[in-house]
Amino acid sequence: MKALVIYDSTYGNTEKIARAIAAGLSARALRSGEVKPEDMQGLDFLVVGSPTHGGRATPELQKVLNDIPSDSLKNVKITAFDTRISGKDKGFGVRLITKAFGYAAGRIAKTLEEKGGTIVAEPQGFIVDKNEGPLKAGEIERATAWGKELLTK
Ligand SMILES: Cc1cc2nc3c(=O)[nH]c(=O)nc-3n(C[C@H](O)[C@H](O)[C@H](O)COP(=O)(O)O)c2cc1C
Repeated sequence: MKALVIYDSTYGNTEKIARAIAAGLSARALRSGEVKPEDMQGLDFLVVGSPTHGGRATPELQKVLNDIPSDSLKNVKITAFDTRISGKDKGFGVRLITKAFGYAAGRIAKTLEEKGGTIVAEPQGFIVDKNEGPLKAGEIERATAWGKELLTK
């Protein structure tokens, strides 16, 4: 099975999660700027993740999504993830944005689905304590376990 994890990361937390998912799924992990067209050829499973910025993926990650040709994910299993700040740690501004716009993972999954992919697992959010991290305790282990679970889909 050819599986790929594509991610973006500003402060490194999403990268850690992406690498943990990739380890569980026996996949490669590529940062958004590193993805070449041939990496997308013959894929069976594509997992895409981003830090949540204003309820969305980063512009770099969104560019990768936009560049995926229509219908090219037919027969590709897909899901998505993001990193985000947990409700109780959010400042007032981020709380308002979340209420209005939600999180990145669901949007990423929807775009992958629009490109022909089949969602096989609920998109996941992994929690950071603050903008720069660190990740909440146990999130890296949860990411590896989720990657392993994806192998069974
Ligand atoms: C410009 C900016 C916008 C953000 N907007 C949100 C948001 O809407 N919701 C949220 O939960 N966290 C938000 N955050 C916190 C990020 O989710 C957090 O920085 C990210 O998960 C860390 O991942 P990284 O280390 O891979 O960059 C924002 C952070 C930045 C820098």
